[in-house]
Amino acid sequence: MISVYNTPRELHIAAAWLWIRAALKEGDGLVGVATGTTTTPIHQMVARIYAAAPFDTRAIQLCAVDDYTGIEPGHEASCSERVRRQLVKPLNLGEDQALLPDGFTGHDAPGRYEAEINQRGGIRLQMLGLGEDGHIGFNYPGTSMGSGAFLALLPQSTKDTLHRLYGLPMDQMPSHGLTLGIRSILMSQRIVIAVTGARKAAIVREAILGPVTEEVPASALQLHRDVAWLLDKEAASKL
Ligand code: F6R
Repeated sequence: MISVYNTPRELHIAAAWLWIRAALKEGDGLVGVATGTTTTPIHQMVARIYAAAPFDTRAIQLCAVDDYTGIEPGHEASCSERVRRQLVKPLNLGEDQALLPDGFTGHDAPGRYEAEINQRGGIRLQMLGLGEDGHIGFNYPGTSMGSGAFLALLPQSTKDTLHRLYGLPMDQMPSHGLTLGIRSILMSQRIVIAVTGARKAAIVREAILGPVTEEVPASALQLHRDVAWLLDKEAASKL
């Protein structure tokens, strides 16, 4: 399904409600989040809705699709920390309601993280953002579509972004990140991918209408039966 919104704000409101509805459903399973400039305002909208009309958050179990390895705990560049600041704290969630990658260290961390997700009933809805090169999570072009969670090598573009946004010095830059793999993402019951801005219009077109190829990781979403693409007008402009 593809939904096109007139403005990013309309998209943020729609995505926030989708996430809340999935998160509040009774039963097993987690709601997955991603970090970045696209999903931050969605999380802020979730927090604003909660502040205006508090709902019962006791059923919420969330997890994050990825995080950098080796960033000091509590650093604002850490994806897990951003999820804590954007959702866990504003929604008053308990420690046990958020499964975050920074709690997993060592070479077997990806496998243990994924096993814990499965033990909690898997992911009922995974919210994603899209990179300009077609990446989802830290699955960059060339990543095998058959992979479960793994430690991905971070490209220079991601390091540049971390440097620009959070002032992380290049010599303290993480080299890897823990990410759910394409296979893990495709095992989610539902996937929602939010994309805004003209810069991503070309890759949106490739991911939705092009061939399924490891060169465009998001094209793997064509293999899933319940994917919602939420696009603003600019991101949808090349469809
Ligand atoms: C981060 C993540 C990434 C981002 C992607 C888009 O947790 O999973 O795949 O979703 O890099 O980032 P923005 O929204 O900042 O363009």
